[in-house]
Amino acid sequence: MFPGRPGRRSMRLLFNSASALALALLSPFGISLRAGAGGQNPLAGDAEAAKAGEYEFRINCALCHGLGARGGGRGPDLTRAQKKFAHSDGEMFQIISNGIPGTAMPANGTNGQGVGMTDEEIWQIISYIRSREVKAPAIPLGNAARGKTLFYGDANCSLCHMINGKGGRFGPELSGVGGSRTPAAIIDSVRHPSHHLAWGLTEGTKEFPQEYETVTAVTADGKEIKGVTLNEDSFSVQIMDQNEQIHLLEKNKLRSLHNSRQSAMPQYGTDVLNDKDLNDIVAYLVSVGAK
Ligand code: HEC
Ligand code: HEC
Repeated sequence: MFPGRPGRRSMRLLFNSASALALALLSPFGISLRAGAGGQNPLAGDAEAAKAGEYEFRINCALCHGLGARGGGRGPDLTRAQKKFAHSDGEMFQIISNGIPGTAMPANGTNGQGVGMTDEEIWQIISYIRSREVKAPAIPLGNAARGKTLFYGDANCSLCHMINGKGGRFGPELSGVGGSRTPAAIIDSVRHPSHHLAWGLTEGTKEFPQEYETVTAVTADGKEIKGVTLNEDSFSVQIMDQNEQIHLLEKNKLRSLHNSRQSAMPQYGTDVLNDKDLNDIVAYLVSVGAK
């Protein structure tokens, strides 16, 4: 769940229809705020616009992308000059307006589902993001080739995680994680798995994806089944255990069913995985995620 979001939406819609009207009546640029030919930002390089964008960013984006757009627990660092999808201003506009389906990146535009940002507000945010871009990577990365060997070898990550179709299914698929989260956030997930649980797949029926909670079911004959929830409705629950065995259980036949925010991933302290090894694994994840 996403605290505080639904309430904001109605406020924003009010604000936006008012500001859109004001813009239509007063704005000297008026129509030119629709994407210029070739999707150029009509407010490119405008310091005032970037300042307004910073304010918008703090309200709508910083909780995932971090203050200063430097990346947070839920979203990538947008100060990287090298983007994954949003290369041109036009592409960035589309992504901010419509979101990225199948990821946590929501629609923010006025197309009926988003938080309702106007075109002008989106261009302002783009001016802001461009003003924050730096050319060099912030954290020197480790050795990706060595990280891959560790991932599939001694560090045991591949017992539970799949990358590009190879590995286990118990934990989330990690092919995209190096592109969608910052190295610092990935390191935190490995050192303190229960800190922030990963989000599972986005379901069409839910606005925001479910978290990877750990679930423990006890059947009528006293058998304990522990794992992660794959699917759940009012009557039944589908659990995958650590051996990737899937159990479909009817809730009213269970003795108990218990969800926990204690991650099903083992905590990797520096005694098990030192900082250099973890840096190498993160470099591997980033190299895969950049593609
Ligand atoms: C709920 C969390 C969340 C919120 C809120 C959010 N984003 Fe994102 N955003 C993401 C994630 C996650 C991705 C990466 C998706 C992927 O690559 O898997 C992303 C990707 C992006 C990208 C593409 C980056 C690239 O490398 O191409 C841009 C640009 C972006 N977001 C801008 C914004 C802006 C601007 C806002 C606010 C108006 C915003 N986001 C709000 C989570 C969020
Ligand atoms: C016994 C199974 C298991 C092993 C071994 C394991 N993980 Fe995990 N991992 C999980 C589960 C389950 C989750 C989801 C719950 C959570 O976020 O802690 C997870 C979550 C993650 C996340 C967060 C993903 C996201 O989208 O936010 C990362 C990153 C991660 N693991 C990396 C690793 C790395 C790197 C290793 C090896 C050093 C590893 N894991 C070993 C089971 C495992």
